[in-house]
Amino acid sequence: SDRHPSIDLPPLIAHRGLSARAPENTLAAVRAAHRAGCTWVELDVQLLGDGTPVIWHDANVRRCSDGRAALADLDLPRTRQLDVGAWFADAFAGERMATLREMLELIDALDMGLNLELKVNRGRSAPALVDGALPTLLDALPPERLIVSSFNDAALDHARHFAGPERLALGVLFEGLPRDWLARCEAVDAFSVHTDWKRLSQRGARAVRQAGYRLLAYTVNDPAAFAHQWAWGVESAITDDPAPFEGRLPTF
Ligand code: G3P
Ligand code: MG
Repeated sequence: SDRHPSIDLPPLIAHRGLSARAPENTLAAVRAAHRAGCTWVELDVQLLGDGTPVIWHDANVRRCSDGRAALADLDLPRTRQLDVGAWFADAFAGERMATLREMLELIDALDMGLNLELKVNRGRSAPALVDGALPTLLDALPPERLIVSSFNDAALDHARHFAGPERLALGVLFEGLPRDWLARCEAVDAFSVHTDWKRLSQRGARAVRQAGYRLLAYTVNDPAAFAHQWAWGVESAITDDPAPFEGRLPTF
């Protein structure tokens, strides 16, 4: 609607950067997404124990680094000692965990759009994350190149206090659409609904679009099985790998 930023959603958004080809949520993964022709990326943000917002998905660093700590137990100097690339492939050895600030500089330099997911892992504070991330974020990117999303209603609600709907597009993340999806979108004056494509029905998609919300689907790695959902009104597929979509994108 005209209460929201006019965002040109791309058909494909690189999930955690180009995570099929580079270590997820790193600067390298965003550069790779850009090289692959993506204009937008989806990334996750959380706070370190010292309050620094960083680009990271899990509650700890076991899966995606050479360390083992919980994110809440790390400070910035300690994350600088972690290798967050070698676990994925030798070619990425030496990659460092990106702060939100570093990542925003890269995204802005590449003129890309960002869907930033406020990732509130178990036991972490939603308001603290929002307080830590939103000022930097709003300072770095214009409304047309930013969507802030979350599964966490408290995080979205708190984010709304930082900027009105015309300045900040908020996306509500769902797995399947719950019965109260509309109330939850209205509560934060949402721009978009982001749903698991495997749990999306044509009826659900229609309802979302008819209510005036934009519709994005994650994490779409089977373009053939997904293809009919473009016609349901899904505008963006958040994918680990854009390559298999070649020749399969809708012509609007
Ligand atoms: O934002 C869509 C998707 O990233 C949500 O799930 O676990 O990959 O952050 P996850
Ligand atoms: Mg995510």
